[in-house]
Amino acid sequence: MAFTQLDNKRDLITRLADGHYHSGEELGEELGISRAAVWKQLQKLSDLGVELDSCKRRGYRIPGGLSLLDSTIIKSNLSPAVAAAVALTVLELVKSTNEVAMSLARDGDAGGSVVLAEMQSAGKGRRGRTWVSPYGRNIYFSTVHHFSGGAAVTQGLSLAVGVIVVQVLQDMGVGDLRLKWPNDILWHGKKLGGILLEISGDPAGSFDVIVGLGINVNMSLREGNEIGQQWTTLSDITGSAVDRSLLSARLANGLLPMLAAYEKYGFERYRKAWQQLDSCLDQAVVLTAGDQHITGVARGVTESGALRIETPEGCSEFSGGEISLRARQ
Ligand code: BTN
Repeated sequence: MAFTQLDNKRDLITRLADGHYHSGEELGEELGISRAAVWKQLQKLSDLGVELDSCKRRGYRIPGGLSLLDSTIIKSNLSPAVAAAVALTVLELVKSTNEVAMSLARDGDAGGSVVLAEMQSAGKGRRGRTWVSPYGRNIYFSTVHHFSGGAAVTQGLSLAVGVIVVQVLQDMGVGDLRLKWPNDILWHGKKLGGILLEISGDPAGSFDVIVGLGINVNMSLREGNEIGQQWTTLSDITGSAVDRSLLSARLANGLLPMLAAYEKYGFERYRKAWQQLDSCLDQAVVLTAGDQHITGVARGVTESGALRIETPEGCSEFSGGEISLRARQ
């Protein structure tokens, strides 16, 4: 397991993650540093956006605690096949886990890499957007898979990722989830997660796909207040904090075997499940591609994962990363 930059603060935050008060004296003794040094580190955590509560007589705490990533828990919950194939990297603070995964891919032999982080300082969303990525709250997960048969073999892949993510969450007891083309994960119309696929290599031949997944897990209202759309978080749906390590392991258990078999089976294997989760099926929608707006009725997806929209002129198919879709009011 690799950690960047924050090793001392990691010790501190691990103690505060229980949500209880810890005095400056106790923390200093446990970490073998002065109270002034404890205070400095607390300041750095606060600068990272970690919510800290201080009480004169009791000390410091993180209200509600934090579910931190623990590589031992992650590894012990991987299926034997995934545990044998995965190269797990758990980081503290990165710009973007997709960027880390991309650089592993460029260095070669990144197949099976899973990169997780506590926080992203420049998390990337689709269509150039920023992905809000506060410390210790959500899933920031990227994995790399090598394909050799040209980009056509990855058609529909991001939709298949959405299906697997929903299945993993359903297995954990989360109901009422839907997918919005191409790959928003929604709960009651609110965004719970998103998927960003990027490519490294030659799309006409041999290349790596970086599958980036963000899921809001234990995020507070304050931490999510910059999200420019209606959103939700797993802890609000389930009513209690969710273990991020366990969830990370389950996602790896679902996603890695799917990726390994995708070149063989393609989207066809996931199409029916995707259509059953389609939040826009038979709904009036507006599709925006650049400055073009197409209004019509969503009619599911093709065998390659393209969106079908029925307009008065007939049925058209749409695919591509720069397209957005919304229900027509
Ligand atoms: C979307 O806009 O819906 C896609 C969001 C994808 C976010 C994830 S978080 C992990 C990975 N690293 C990134 O920088 N982005 C993806």
